[in-house]
Amino acid sequence: MIIEKVNEPIKLKDDLLKFVFGVYQSTNGAYPALEWAEKKPEPNDFEGFKKIYEPFLEFRLTKEFDELYVAKDNNNIIGTVALVYNLKGKEVWWVPEELREKNIGLIEFFMVDEKYRGKRIGSKLLTFAIKRLKELGKEIYIVTFPHLPAYQYYLKKGFQKVMDYKEFVILKFKNS
Ligand SMILES: CC(C)(COP(=O)(O)OP(=O)(O)OC[C@H]1O[C@@H](n2cnc3c(N)ncnc32)[C@H](O)[C@@H]1OP(=O)(O)O)[C@@H](O)C(=O)NCCC(=O)NCCS
Repeated sequence: MIIEKVNEPIKLKDDLLKFVFGVYQSTNGAYPALEWAEKKPEPNDFEGFKKIYEPFLEFRLTKEFDELYVAKDNNNIIGTVALVYNLKGKEVWWVPEELREKNIGLIEFFMVDEKYRGKRIGSKLLTFAIKRLKELGKEIYIVTFPHLPAYQYYLKKGFQKVMDYKEFVILKFKNS
């Protein structure tokens, strides 16, 4: 497994769409939450998923992420993580106003292919993301959902809940 920086994220759009759909299927539609959709597609409905998620993915790849990394095995994407730390002017509705003023870095788009879960690939990606944001001198935050297993995972990994916000829960890395 290698972790690779993606230099032109939009070029990976189609591969990432498939990868994220795999995560959507494997979580039975829990993640991505598609919380803005009036009616969520069934977990096996790729076309329905694409219709709702593709424009959002495009926004993330072109306007939101400051850095995107993928974990690869035999040239296949098996994991992802993105860093967001230039928040000015970004339409990140999941980040509370008071945090946008601070010198923060967010860990986003954190996923591992179902077939590869439980092999510490997530741990490696998370450690990598934390180290990078520390280098940049950022306070490290994650926005997630209270019902996801990932929430408990983050608590185990040294994150603490700092607040509830809309349907989200905001976590901060303790030593940042
Ligand atoms: C959260 C996620 C990225 C973790 O990735 P991962 O590669 O499975 O993580 P790791 O292997 O490092 O750790 C998995 C932990 O769960 C436990 N685990 C064991 N078997 C597991 C399995 N089959 N699947 C998942 N977790 C398992 C391990 O004990 C480990 O805990 P530890 O760190 O205390 O040892 C992954 O579960 C995922 O993609 N989830 C769906 C997407 C999601 O919810 N993303 C977060 C959105 S905010």
